[in-house]
Amino acid sequence: MSNANSIAASNSGAFAVYVHWPFCLSKCPYCDFNSHVRHAAIDEPRFLHAFQAEIAATAARLGRRTVSTIFFGGGTPSLMQPATVAAILDAIAQHWIIAPDAEVTLEANPTSVEATRFRGYRSAGVNRVSLGVQALDDDALKALGRTHTAQEALDAVVIARSAFERYSFDLIYARPQQTPQAWAGELKRAIAEAAEHLSLYQLTIEPETPFATLKAAGKLAIPDEDTARALYDTTQDICAQSGLPAYEISNHARPGAECRHNLVYWRANEYAGIGPGAHGRLDIDGERHATATEKRPEAWLMRVESKGHGVVTDDVLTHGEMADEFLLMGLRLAEGIDPARYQRLAGRSLDPKRIAILRSEGAVETTAGGRLRVTQAGFPVLDAVVADLAA
Ligand SMILES: C[S@@+](CC[C@H](N)C(=O)[O-])C[C@H]1O[C@@H](n2cnc3c(N)ncnc32)[C@H](O)[C@@H]1O
Ligand code: SF4
Repeated sequence: MSNANSIAASNSGAFAVYVHWPFCLSKCPYCDFNSHVRHAAIDEPRFLHAFQAEIAATAARLGRRTVSTIFFGGGTPSLMQPATVAAILDAIAQHWIIAPDAEVTLEANPTSVEATRFRGYRSAGVNRVSLGVQALDDDALKALGRTHTAQEALDAVVIARSAFERYSFDLIYARPQQTPQAWAGELKRAIAEAAEHLSLYQLTIEPETPFATLKAAGKLAIPDEDTARALYDTTQDICAQSGLPAYEISNHARPGAECRHNLVYWRANEYAGIGPGAHGRLDIDGERHATATEKRPEAWLMRVESKGHGVVTDDVLTHGEMADEFLLMGLRLAEGIDPARYQRLAGRSLDPKRIAILRSEGAVETTAGGRLRVTQAGFPVLDAVVADLAA
């Protein structure tokens, strides 16, 4: 099978652009995203120039594409001036065609200062906002190192609702000392404020974060495995009953309101990564390239200024790597994967014996349409299921 065929097998034509703004006002103790705190003012026009250059360089490699989704992530992109966001969108439109119905999302922290910029983002062309609410409990917010209160977050949700057609917010659960009962109450309050989409992440203790240090010192009492499982089950039950079923392991939406940008990743489609530490999957001359840019913001800036782009990794993926990635990403989705597409990518089919064992254990099922998907019982052990199938 040629590479060109396997790319065709992997790509339904959706193309997304991710733009990374790498700065935050403070660093949350659980976070290992590529986010940095700077005490001096950020030279936003200089960064804008670099974003424009990197968009031009990526477009020169890729050629014409129709952009179906754009996502400003971070870091805290809601620290950018609306005019900067508008200029980045103009640069994307200059090199590619932005589909008339494109989804354009910006991640925002729910502080009152940032909410004042929401209308500016709307005028710039953003049509969806994703708010990092994290908790609706002031003590929990403080423990997570957040600078907003629950009331401030709820006020930001109201402003988001008036400014954008679509909005979502993020909550973190399985927090220190959290009980399923307390979480159920908080989640129901959140659902009452959510229109169509919620991201609900189980707290992960990431290596080399302050939370990892506290945990190692026995100073962070995170829920044990059984409680974490009860919290997960509570999440699934309440969301499903409220019309917001999980369409991905941590993402819930009313049918049709899924985040189209993230679906591009999970369905193994094509995306460009712009900005410090951004990853891309680019289909060039029948090959799929996995790209990554320099992570450190100032080093990225200098690299773009001297070379025209910040790419430091550019690997052509093998069939096996593409197939593994397809499995790893696709099985996160409730819709699961098309085994025939796996076969086209990998050049071999999934092992029917392994599928039969996982099915007998209740971890996977095959839909009437022939798709393979992980069951509710299988999601808590998703990593093991993927490892088993990919082996
Ligand atoms: C790129 S971050 C953030 C957006 C924004 N800067 C914020 O924090 O509000 C995306 C989301 O990942 C989640 N997240 C980050 N670190 C996490 C961790 N260690 N465990 C669970 N969720 C995490 C948070 O819910 C966060 O809103
Ligand atoms: S605001 Fe968001 S990106 Fe920034 S440190 Fe906190 S969790 Fe990480």
